[in-house]
Amino acid sequence: MDVIRIEGGHRVTGEVRVEGAKNSALKLMAATIMAPGVSRLTNVPNISDVHVMGKVLKRLGATVTVVDEHTLDIDTSGVNSWRTPYELVVQMRASTAVLGPLISRFGQAVVAMPGGCNIGARNIDMHIFGLEALGVQFDFAHGYINGTTPDGLHSNFITLEFASVGATENLMMASVYAPGTTVIDNAAREPEIVDLANLLNEMGAKVRGAGSPLIEIEGVRGPLHPVTHAVVGDRIEAGTFAAIGALTSDPVYVRGFDPAHLGLVLKKYQQMGITVEKKPDGCVVSRERPLTPVDIQTLPYPGFPTDMQAQTMVLAALGDGDCIITENVFENRFMLAAELCRMGADIRIEGHHALVHGVKRLSGAEVASPDLRGGAALVMAGLVADGYTTVSQIHHIMRGYEHFTDKLQALGAHVELLSLPDPTEDDA
Ligand code: EPZ
Repeated sequence: MDVIRIEGGHRVTGEVRVEGAKNSALKLMAATIMAPGVSRLTNVPNISDVHVMGKVLKRLGATVTVVDEHTLDIDTSGVNSWRTPYELVVQMRASTAVLGPLISRFGQAVVAMPGGCNIGARNIDMHIFGLEALGVQFDFAHGYINGTTPDGLHSNFITLEFASVGATENLMMASVYAPGTTVIDNAAREPEIVDLANLLNEMGAKVRGAGSPLIEIEGVRGPLHPVTHAVVGDRIEAGTFAAIGALTSDPVYVRGFDPAHLGLVLKKYQQMGITVEKKPDGCVVSRERPLTPVDIQTLPYPGFPTDMQAQTMVLAALGDGDCIITENVFENRFMLAAELCRMGADIRIEGHHALVHGVKRLSGAEVASPDLRGGAALVMAGLVADGYTTVSQIHHIMRGYEHFTDKLQALGAHVELLSLPDPTEDDA
């Protein structure tokens, strides 16, 4: 059983460079399906989710060549299938990002229904609703959704009931060839949406307004052409290391991302008494004062990102007072709280609200990573807890953080990756 063991209390300071954004890279990889030929993606994070998306593309008939650790050449000229298998979708929900590209290229797609995950049901009803508005007909059987376009695709004006990132992405990609102009209203505005729109436009699409709530896609004659594109810096990996600098108080220079993509997070951190110095390629985060608790509400971008909620809960857990963290995006994203309470935190969950009463110290403990961001947050907590913290279920963390322990060690943290005998296996 692989675990991360941390000895708390050591100085953490220095410079760390974040990778390309997981939540963009996966969709850019899917989008190459629409551009037969060899596309080169650079600044791709070397994480397990990217490896799974590579398997999905290969299963569809693409060739994925690892040029170096952060560069992929994806040749989709050989893509000859439009069926995404359950065993890959169940590993990674983002596999549903191939839905739009497959429908654009082949007029059909068969994708396993993504199961739920630890943080929520993760439905795709908004994806289906929008694609049906573009002329896709779906039937559902044996855990798969089967989309066909007997009358072809057409443009439409689609209003999303929630600014869903995945639905916005699938609808952008599905409407690239739809004759006329498709409008996505109440579209997600995340920087990863802008990165995808930039890639599509570089490939020959006509997408306007990405980053605003109203995106217009003017149908073009296909196919798109392959390009070379660098993945945007990962604002959530960056935010995680910024939170680490805030927690451990010595300066941490987080590089490789646009600090404007963490606007509200850095503003909230400054309200908490954290020192943030913005740089062209990132920011320097430190703290000279006790943490002042502030209330947090997660919302779609540019609101406070749900993917930074867990990391911020650790800061609040050691704050000098009380605060309320409200999770508005996912229905079950407070599982970290129970683990932090085992380390001495004082957090009570009331529905979508976490009532956090700051404590003076956390004590090291054996804890289990509940999900990707919760796992990273537990490692964070271990950096300042008394004694040793052992985090298990770290496959969650490896999905989205490249060389996480190496980066922490380079900052001076006493962390190590260990393989321990699995206590659930009998001795026989
Ligand atoms: C993306 O997930 C990210 N994942 C998530 O990051 C991120 O938390 C989320 O956007 C919000 O920013 C990737 O990009 C791979 P949504 P996505 O569609 O697209 C519900 C991480 O830690 N919903 O904006 O799935 C949904 O269940 C991960 O890196 C529907 O009900 O997010 C959720 O409650 C976690 N029906 C909410 O909306 C739908 O059809 C937001 O989902 C679609 C979504």
